[in-house]
Amino acid sequence: MQLRVVAINDGAQGVRVLRLARSDGADLPEWEPGAHLEVTLPGGLRRHYSLCGSRADGQEWTIGVLREERSRGGSSYLHDGVEVGRELTVTGVRNLFPLVPADEYVFIAGGIGITPLLPMIETAEAAGSDWHLFYGGRRRASMAFLERLEPYGERVTVAPADECGRIDLGAALAAAPRRALVYACGPGPLLSSLEEEATAAGLELHVERFTAAPLPASVQNATFEVQLAQTGVTLEVPADRSIVEVLEDNGIGVPSSCQEGVCGTCETKVLQGTPDHRDSILSDEERRAGNTMMICVGRSRSSRLVLDL
Ligand code: FES
Repeated sequence: MQLRVVAINDGAQGVRVLRLARSDGADLPEWEPGAHLEVTLPGGLRRHYSLCGSRADGQEWTIGVLREERSRGGSSYLHDGVEVGRELTVTGVRNLFPLVPADEYVFIAGGIGITPLLPMIETAEAAGSDWHLFYGGRRRASMAFLERLEPYGERVTVAPADECGRIDLGAALAAAPRRALVYACGPGPLLSSLEEEATAAGLELHVERFTAAPLPASVQNATFEVQLAQTGVTLEVPADRSIVEVLEDNGIGVPSSCQEGVCGTCETKVLQGTPDHRDSILSDEERRAGNTMMICVGRSRSSRLVLDL
């Protein structure tokens, strides 16, 4: 759909906050905390941004865009090439990071990772859940949405690294109620440390990654076959190509975006075979079930996969 940029604010140093609405003022589709939308940019680049406004506002969607130091064009365009009134092509919304109802939560944000957690906090607060947010960033001035968190007082621990060092994740989780669900979003190293700490503390952790988790050095790629059930075509996927790349090499277009297993755009049903999941989206249960996979990074443990394509 086409959405118009109706307001732009500086959320913090390096963070631009864009509010989007339909040109005719009609309501936008409802969404749940954790949802993101996809913005298609000039040249076909597609980028995903968490909705971070209030769900009570049915006519506007809000996204926070961090200017990436090594931008491949996405964040720099939204910072430098877009003004109020510009139409953006938006797809969504999609939720790969749903908030499971609970009485107690620990939220952990690193930098722009605060964005999906804001609507979660609003929902937890409205439900009367007990919660605490640990919000880390490089400097206070670079941490967006601090003013929205102020009313929550002591429920929020703001930890700029230049003032107080990194968040002590071990202490944060050790102090959490045993039944608390932990929701976290931020840079990969933060989330990797958190996975270890949450396992040690016996807490259930839900994360959303911006970039793929690193694979262990021992992981090797092997050649396998994919059969496309809808046409019967069988293709070989060599060790140095992904399924998406092999499909595209053969003129078969499939929806894909991040190519890193973090956005969910390329999710494909598996009809036969055992996928080797390498994405950062599916839960352990979904991996074990093997009914679906992200074909931009996923490979095969069996010699052949049959996909619903
Ligand atoms: Fe993003 Fe595959 S293209 S998960």
